[in-house]
Amino acid sequence: MTTTAGGLLPRLPGAFRARRWLLADRDRWHAADVRGDDHAVVLVRSEEAGDVVLGAGDPDAVAALVRDLAHERRAAGAGALGWLTVPRSTVLGASELEALGVAPYSTWDRMSTDEPPPAVAGEESVVRLGPAEADEAAACLAEANPGTRARPGGADDAGWWGVREQGRLVGVIGAADRLGAADGRRSWHLHGLGVRPAARGRGLGAALTAAALRAGLGAGLAWVSLGLYADNAVARRLYLRLGMAVDEENASYAAPGYGGSWRR
Ligand SMILES: CC(C)(COP(=O)(O)OP(=O)(O)OC[C@H]1O[C@@H](n2cnc3c(N)ncnc32)[C@H](O)[C@@H]1OP(=O)(O)O)[C@@H](O)C(=O)NCCC(=O)NCCS
Repeated sequence: MTTTAGGLLPRLPGAFRARRWLLADRDRWHAADVRGDDHAVVLVRSEEAGDVVLGAGDPDAVAALVRDLAHERRAAGAGALGWLTVPRSTVLGASELEALGVAPYSTWDRMSTDEPPPAVAGEESVVRLGPAEADEAAACLAEANPGTRARPGGADDAGWWGVREQGRLVGVIGAADRLGAADGRRSWHLHGLGVRPAARGRGLGAALTAAALRAGLGAGLAWVSLGLYADNAVARRLYLRLGMAVDEENASYAAPGYGGSWRR
């Protein structure tokens, strides 16, 4: 029998215990089934919307672990997974994906920094938003970043910031509270960055991101992270200029119609 006492960290191979992604999300994965070694790990946990799988490490070794998982699940008659995320260069065969019941869904990176960003012009015009401004922020996001599910009022909200022009919110960004370093310092995961199309290309996106990074790192967080779709070149350049670095390059696979609460 496997014991999950002590949570995820003591059960992770040593090489993965300092990985920011796993540290930040270790509460979600505390009871996960852990397979692998210092080269690669695969974590499996159950959610109402289906089992969720995360692979990290050497892509060939991740592929071998996922192959074993697919054989096992097929033999056991286990249903489709809800969601699978692996390093982007992991090659998965059509028969494994079929056995797991998932198809390619997205490619995305995780970035983070533990250094406050350089000073950014316009940062002084970024203001912290209060609960009374939640609807206004949601309306801004509906135009500025319609694809995001991030909204003020989430259970893990750490803060929202915005920029106004002529009294109207033209850009916003939010931060979600996460676990962090093994020493107990927490982290933030930024989400919901959006600048209305008419206000883009004038530095507001950089100012918003810099303000959120500075607020978090100035308050003693271990790091601040975020996720971005691999093809979002504008956002990537902006984050790199602010000193963020790529920690993970991932590909996700989903069951058709997956509606679970997986977060990047
Ligand atoms: C990504 C996004 C937030 C960027 O917002 P923005 O306000 O245009 O960002 P910035 O103005 O700071 O930077 C964008 C570009 O404008 C340039 N720029 C900034 N200030 C400038 C100025 N004063 N004059 C000319 N160009 C300027 C930047 O150098 C940058 O150029 P680059 O594309 O060559 O790197 C915006 O495009 C957006 O809302 N996109 C949709 C949602 C989204 O993708 N969100 C991020 C999810 S991870």
